[in-house]
Amino acid sequence: MTDRYAVIGNPIAHSKSPQIHAEFAKQAGEDISYAAILAPLNEFEKTVREFIAGGGKGMNVTLPFKQQAYAMCNELTERAQLAGAVNTLTFSGGKILGDTTDGKGLIRDIIGNLGFDIEGKSILVIGAGGAARGTLAPLLRCNPSRLVIANRTHAKAAELARLITPQDKKQKHIEAKTFEQLASEKFDLLINATSASLTNALPEMPKNIQLNQTFTYDMMYAKLPTLFMKFAKQHGAARVSDGLGMLVEQAAESFFVWRGVRPETKSVLIKMRAAL
Ligand code: ATR
Repeated sequence: MTDRYAVIGNPIAHSKSPQIHAEFAKQAGEDISYAAILAPLNEFEKTVREFIAGGGKGMNVTLPFKQQAYAMCNELTERAQLAGAVNTLTFSGGKILGDTTDGKGLIRDIIGNLGFDIEGKSILVIGAGGAARGTLAPLLRCNPSRLVIANRTHAKAAELARLITPQDKKQKHIEAKTFEQLASEKFDLLINATSASLTNALPEMPKNIQLNQTFTYDMMYAKLPTLFMKFAKQHGAARVSDGLGMLVEQAAESFFVWRGVRPETKSVLIKMRAAL
């Protein structure tokens, strides 16, 4: 019997996850179906439970439900606990298991697909919402020389830096800095984890930030480069990338969590890029 999976969100119509998972399933010879389910804003839990009752095996969770998903799990992986959010649900033995694959997806894209080695590099993450939170612990685990977080509302960045503490002695503490403190500074890697690109805006950033040797990464993606990517290019960034690879890699990690098979992602990423 075909195992049923789905992505749940609101809105959901433009989700690329069904296409990505269909590619993975074809490639791996796995007999699964993968749908997109729109949950009313106040009926997330009810919609998930209906899917489980109908025999569903697992779900990806997207905006705005990642924290609600976290709250309804019976068990959480360590990385989901650190992220405070869940994007992958597995239904097994009457229990709901919560995991998050976003951080792993980002790291695999930056290191694996884009060939940028994070170890020993200085990193600045802008933004302190859910997207930023999920990336901090995985980035720290790659042993950067510095991991700095800055946000328009500084208190949120300070709170995240306090929440995510090093897991072993080799790892540095996360530094929360104000935009003023970072004026004219330089980093090897700059990650835009704000939601600014969603509204086609350029995020507020430290003044006069030096980008000429910086790899800049926007966690968002669109057919055309985002304003953040354009800004980085205009300021001489060494390399610029959007987050489409992260999307494909987090999906691959979810597929692995569910099916125990790690799909090949390069060809899927090329297809998704062409279809943008
Ligand atoms: P989530 O649901 O992912 O947690 P959120 O709490 O809305 O989303 O967080 C989005 C992040 O993008 C926040 O860090 C937000 O900054 P504030 O905390 O100051 O609101 C950031 N953000 C959104 N638009 C921005 C902009 N134009 N410039 C800078 N930061 C922006």
